[in-house]
Amino acid sequence: MTDVEIYKSIEPQVESLIDSNDSVLTNLSNFTALLNQNFEKISWVGFYITKNDKLVLGPFQGKVACTKIEFGKGVCGTSAENRETIIVEDVHKFPGHIACDAGSNSEIVLPIVVDDKVWGVLDLDSYEFSSFNETDKIYLEKFCETLANKLNLSEFKVI
Ligand code: SME
Repeated sequence: MTDVEIYKSIEPQVESLIDSNDSVLTNLSNFTALLNQNFEKISWVGFYITKNDKLVLGPFQGKVACTKIEFGKGVCGTSAENRETIIVEDVHKFPGHIACDAGSNSEIVLPIVVDDKVWGVLDLDSYEFSSFNETDKIYLEKFCETLANKLNLSEFKVI
């Protein structure tokens, strides 16, 4: 299957899986699992959530990861600070990239803005180079919008 076919096939699942009757933690956890189990190219997928001007590790699938990232640092911190999606074809060429897993070679990070504040970011990594492109950006931004619209994300407290 192409990536577009995979995204189209999981789109209805995202809609039905994300349920405001379940907790934000439950929803975010299942959302990362859904992406992880459908894309072989993903080595790590998860959320970093804003707390006291830092990004703190949230629900994820994959190897152990760094727990805190400063705004402006790494791909996640840069995406959060600039409020823009960043696609990195080769992480070794990204100044200040934070290597939680030395095997990671490319990534995409999407900011999630709630009430005009950066609530957090969605981060996807891959062991392959140039794994992510505009297709991922379009669908993942749509999924993040669904999360932000259906869930009360601000109620999720990172301790
Ligand atoms: N790659 C990220 C760090 C988080 S880990 O990849 C899970 C970055 O440079 O922001």
